[in-house]
Amino acid sequence: MKLNPEKIQAYCSDPVTIRVYDSIDSTNNEAKRRADSGICLYAATHQTAGRGRHGHSFYSPKDTGLYMTLSLPLSAPAASVQKITCAAAVAVCEAVGALSDVQPAIKWVNDIYADGKKAAGILTELVSDSDNRPHAVIIGIGMNLCTKRFPDEFAANAGNLGELEINTLCGTITAKLIDYYRHPDNNSILEKYKERNFCIGRAVRYTQNDMIHTATAVDIDADGGLIVEENGERTTLNSGEISIIPIK
Ligand code: BTN
Repeated sequence: MKLNPEKIQAYCSDPVTIRVYDSIDSTNNEAKRRADSGICLYAATHQTAGRGRHGHSFYSPKDTGLYMTLSLPLSAPAASVQKITCAAAVAVCEAVGALSDVQPAIKWVNDIYADGKKAAGILTELVSDSDNRPHAVIIGIGMNLCTKRFPDEFAANAGNLGELEINTLCGTITAKLIDYYRHPDNNSILEKYKERNFCIGRAVRYTQNDMIHTATAVDIDADGGLIVEENGERTTLNSGEISIIPIK
């Protein structure tokens, strides 16, 4: 598994500054440190301090996964970070689906599942300038490709997407995300997100203001929020995590 910037660039019609690493702490950290201008991609085959949402770590062992961050400059008002995360989830599912027999599914908002186990995750962050104005959005995607052994804390729920050629995968996802970036009003992304989402129609549990709620996930709104219904009342979740309640 060797990342090759020229091979990755060949999938993208826009010029992309591509930096590849055999090992790095976190490609999201590197994107923030460098704060390169223009469209930039940071990709690695090993992370020593991979980060997930809510302060979790993302297990990123050597040569069994692809860990990438795409940094996109924000010249217009920032699109919803949640919607960008949705676009990234769709890009990963479509790329994997096109390159293999695996058709991954999405758990709101940022988890990609294959064979009932989490095989990839997305961490989208805004990068701000010294005046606290967001000037870039960075989309970090971690994919377990042939990772088979996981630390105890992840083992029960962790899986993989299967062996895929990393430059093709990385280039295909990058091209799809840049296309979304160029056409943010293309709402078909949300339709695609819904089609791949396995939460809709399921009973879910989430915590809000220290209260545990049990509700039914009914839809995704125009910004990628999850609409849930509890005792006939609808609420939209824009952050946090849900767990799916297994069908007995
Ligand atoms: C999650 O599952 O909560 C999100 C995981 C995101 C992991 C990716 S790997 C590439 C990028 N660098 C990081 O440190 N995190 C993201």
